[in-house]
Amino acid sequence: MTKEFPKNFLWGGAVAAHQIEGAYDADGRGLSCADVMTAGSNGVEREITDGIVSGKYYPNHEAIDFYHHYKEDIKLFQELGLKAFRTSISWSRIFPNGDDELPNEAGLQFYDALFDELLANGIEPVITLSHFEIPYHLYTEYGGFRNKKLIDFFVKYAKTVMTRYQHKVKYWMTFNEINNQADGQSALHVWTNSAVKIADDENKEEVVFQAALNELIASAKVVKLGHEINPDFQIGCMMAYVPIYAYSCSPLDAMAAVKVMERRYFYSDIHARGHIPRYTLKYWEKQGYQMDYSADELQALADGTVDYIGFSYYMSNAETTIAELDGQMISDFPNAKMTKNPYIKASDWGWQIDPVGLRYVLNAVYERYEKPLFIVENGFGAYDKKEADGSVHDDYRIDYLRAHIEQMEKAVNEDGVELMGYTPWGVIDIVSFGSGEMEKRYGMIYVDKDNQGNGTLARSKKDSFAWYHDIIDHNGLEE
Ligand code: BG6
Repeated sequence: MTKEFPKNFLWGGAVAAHQIEGAYDADGRGLSCADVMTAGSNGVEREITDGIVSGKYYPNHEAIDFYHHYKEDIKLFQELGLKAFRTSISWSRIFPNGDDELPNEAGLQFYDALFDELLANGIEPVITLSHFEIPYHLYTEYGGFRNKKLIDFFVKYAKTVMTRYQHKVKYWMTFNEINNQADGQSALHVWTNSAVKIADDENKEEVVFQAALNELIASAKVVKLGHEINPDFQIGCMMAYVPIYAYSCSPLDAMAAVKVMERRYFYSDIHARGHIPRYTLKYWEKQGYQMDYSADELQALADGTVDYIGFSYYMSNAETTIAELDGQMISDFPNAKMTKNPYIKASDWGWQIDPVGLRYVLNAVYERYEKPLFIVENGFGAYDKKEADGSVHDDYRIDYLRAHIEQMEKAVNEDGVELMGYTPWGVIDIVSFGSGEMEKRYGMIYVDKDNQGNGTLARSKKDSFAWYHDIIDHNGLEE
């Protein structure tokens, strides 16, 4: 017996252009924010340099050279049985500086060829417009999304690609994990979400709220425009959902968890409901933040609500007000802090593994918006060992994915959640976003390359390849 998923369920795999394509300066491509991020390591942040500094290693410059290997990779995806492939368009391949008058035809042709190849293999492209690689020039010249001019640059870029690919791409998303910057703790998140750097004398939170609001306005304008270009388009947002549980049943912990979740919901509340939530307006008032937005922009938010909620899910967290527990302070609820959840284990990178948390998120978000959901990232970053015969026995990855698919199935068949698809992250090994490592691997397809950039780039199948193939083949899990 099979625990089935809906007919036409989009079983797929996901990546992002900057983590896979390489060819960072090929065919007229301009520099992006991801091109100035060095390699970090497990627990060590990546450095954001001023331009490219000679002698430093930038893992995204070559990545896995998908730009030149995409045909052989798509053959493997087809063999795996993928029905959908989520990737992003590299904005600076299309507009090398972001503010150019005309698009770069060579860049447009690359995505024509890529989408044609996917469609010829029966694979639906699912496309993110901005996945952590805003053209670098938009930072140096305008300061990134803190500047409202970026709204128009983004709309022009989106209009160009949505018009060009209107008969090839149906599923779109605007800004990847737009709410990563919500916590504002990591410079990398603000950089990759918004191309923004914060000066020491600035109020980080206020700057991030303004940049985020500008992106949300840009996103809403693109949703409206996209529907005008092709009414069949399905245009979603893309959120990182990390559910925050109350650590204890203390009412203060419950309230702290609500408050910290609001920081993340702010983004999807605007994307899905089309207005700034009252809890945020009150917060801005309390903090004395003067946000810059016009009546026309508020109207744009209302006119451009998304068709579906795309999101990533990797882990959960717990929030507590209990003073003696070690944790990380947050600022939005007095004396509350993130702490380890004793009921669940973590990966080698400290990401807490919580399959039930996925069902929890699916329920919470569906109840909140009653819009279709799409899990566009989920997966297990791990150190893989390649055996002498070339095999990789990644049973830990299979266990992780199976446990999450089981919870998805319950959300769909027991809880009534509308779920469009599932595209596990890094279906083929790619450069890690957070650490820049190659050896934090998510793939079902192994790529021969290490953290220092050595390797043949040869592709081979891991054990999870055959396993995932069967899942797709059965449209779900076998009992
Ligand atoms: C999400 C991003 O944050 O998680 C991806 O959308 C990223 O770009 C993925 O790669 C996993 O994170 P990491 O740091 O393990 O690559």
